[in-house]
Amino acid sequence: PTTILQDSYGRFHNYLRLSLVERCNLRCTYCMPPEGIPLSDNLLTSEEVLRLAAHFVSRGVNKFRLTGGEPTLRKDLTEIIQGLHALRPKQIGITTNGVVLTRKLNEFIDAGLTSINISLDTLQADKFEQLTRRPYFTKVWESIVAAHQAASEQAHLTVKVNCVVMRGVNDEEVPNFIKLTEQFPHLQMRFIEYMPFSSNGWDWSKCVPYQELLTDDLTPVPSPDPSDTTKWYQTPTGATVGFITSMSEHFCGSCNRIRLTADGQLKVCLFDGREVNLKNVLRLPDVTEQDLDKVIYHALQHKQKQLGGHPDPASIKVDNNRPMTLIGG
Ligand code: GTP
Ligand code: 5AD
Ligand code: SF4
Repeated sequence: PTTILQDSYGRFHNYLRLSLVERCNLRCTYCMPPEGIPLSDNLLTSEEVLRLAAHFVSRGVNKFRLTGGEPTLRKDLTEIIQGLHALRPKQIGITTNGVVLTRKLNEFIDAGLTSINISLDTLQADKFEQLTRRPYFTKVWESIVAAHQAASEQAHLTVKVNCVVMRGVNDEEVPNFIKLTEQFPHLQMRFIEYMPFSSNGWDWSKCVPYQELLTDDLTPVPSPDPSDTTKWYQTPTGATVGFITSMSEHFCGSCNRIRLTADGQLKVCLFDGREVNLKNVLRLPDVTEQDLDKVIYHALQHKQKQLGGHPDPASIKVDNNRPMTLIGG
């Protein structure tokens, strides 16, 4: 059973990203078309999510991240976090846009949440409204302040801010984002290279390789996690900033991530459009753990070496992949 989650390249997948909702309360231009997209009316229930999660834990998963759409829109989120916590993983994270986080932050942390990644691509309210097509900058800012406060009080809680860098859009703001860490030393600031997904307007000219953003005063620091997607640096004031270099230097060789979509599809790679329907297997009347194993193992044997089977980032095809908002990143 311990090899069910190993692929043909010897990579063991101990990190399961669970998309819990397809809906989102923002309409970020790099994630979704303005009119939105058709949504499934047949999502996994919380019981099903937890049954699958328990199966994956029994096969070696020890890290979860809850994604969306926007995961905080899921009404039973606290129960799901509690249920995952009962499985005793090393980490339960959430990636959220922060629009409705503040009110339930402590409830989620008490339920067992250990890591909060909040997305924020600009520090300017008017630009935020252009990028997200919604006027919620202040709400996101308040949730970052609240999460930072929580992280300063609880050593086991990690808070990261995710900024997708787009040339000519927000690249000039990178120094201001780095400066933020002086005021908020418990935030880990991350810059993400803009990646191509279905109908997200991606273009090489808008992608800023991290080398362009590095400055002499940033000192590289090794990550304790060999599968970390982030290259980390220390700032002169001792804060932490990092770069997710999917496009300029991918990290597929140490990939430990698999994904379950909100509608119950198993996805072995972010850039591979092929999906395996775990929901249908789970809903078979007399389904056994071995039935699940068979499907999961088979899917992982087809996982490609890198970038969903594309030889290099320039050739990534997005047409057969779903939009980012249905994958969860
Ligand atoms: P932690 O390491 O637990 O903090 O989470 P994370 O950085 O893996 O997750 P998060 O949801 O915050 O994702 C940050 C960025 O990394 C997003 O742009 C994701 O799309 C990207 N990302 C996450 N996993 C992968 C991956 O397997 N491959 C690639 N290329 N990008 C990824
Ligand atoms: N490229 C890189 N990161 C992206 N995200 C959303 N779309 C893209 C993209 N095209 C980020 C979100 C969030 C995380 C889940 O992925 O901003 O932080
Ligand atoms: Fe893993 Fe695919 Fe991401 Fe590469 S692109 S790190 S193989 S999920």
